[in-house]
Amino acid sequence: MTDLVLTEKNNQVLTVRINRLDRKNALTHAMYTALGDALEDAHADGDIRCVLFTGSDDCFTAGNDLSDFAQGLPGSFEETPVGRFLFLLATATKPVVAAVNGPAVGIGTTMLLHCDMVFAGNNTRFQMPFANLGLCPEGGSSLLLPSWIGRVRAAELLMLGGAFTADDAYRLGIINRVCEPEATEATALESCHKLAAQAPAAIRVTKELLNRPTLEQLKDTMLAEGKLFGERLKSREAAEAFKAFMEKRKPDFSKFD
Ligand code: COA
Repeated sequence: MTDLVLTEKNNQVLTVRINRLDRKNALTHAMYTALGDALEDAHADGDIRCVLFTGSDDCFTAGNDLSDFAQGLPGSFEETPVGRFLFLLATATKPVVAAVNGPAVGIGTTMLLHCDMVFAGNNTRFQMPFANLGLCPEGGSSLLLPSWIGRVRAAELLMLGGAFTADDAYRLGIINRVCEPEATEATALESCHKLAAQAPAAIRVTKELLNRPTLEQLKDTMLAEGKLFGERLKSREAAEAFKAFMEKRKPDFSKFD
């Protein structure tokens, strides 16, 4: 159990709140376990019809805890807490919605690719800085992003790893709406309650059909990404990037070939 992930059930909606603000909601192994448990509970609880992932008005998540990353993955990717969480999210049968503000870094962006609807505050800074950290894409992003937004735009976001705004994300078609930050959660909740009031089996079948064309390829991609990600975590490039983050400087990749 961790109080860094809070859950609250209200009118058939399970709100899952990332709550580690002093670390910009960076996600530890224990927090991924809690996020995965929340998805399993939602699946098992017949009274829950929709899951909402959120953080605060000014922070969704700064992504994986970089000190955890520096230790490498404890086991093969799909068995790690992050791998378990991502697989549960990608195969969730009930609708999943996200309300995002502030930093949505790394998995904070890639997990949104598995949500059915995403609402973002105009203060959101999306970023997938995997290559910047000597790492590689994860969470199925190397499959889903190019097919949704186009190969060259996906390459720019994944290779240069720059931040982009909620307006950019809206233009790219990866979020539903841009909100005032203090209204993001309420706006997302409104859609959650609408989803919860819909015919539940019809929603499940609709979700299944939306996921079906890419599901097998997605699982295969997530396994391949996970294996490479685990290898990259042990690389000298990643070690330099993590050290640079701790020392609050830019990484120097000039010595690597
Ligand atoms: N892992 C571990 N600690 C993190 C973290 C992370 N991913 N992100 C932020 N923190 C810590 C910072 O080290 C800082 O700790 P300190 O107070 O002891 O110095 C604290 O959280 C606050 O972060 P700070 O960087 O001061 O906040 P900011 O508002 O200036 O910047 C971010 C926010 C998200 C832009 C910045 O923290 C960042 O780039 N974080 C790393 C993101 C990242 O690379 N994630 C991995 C993706 S794969």
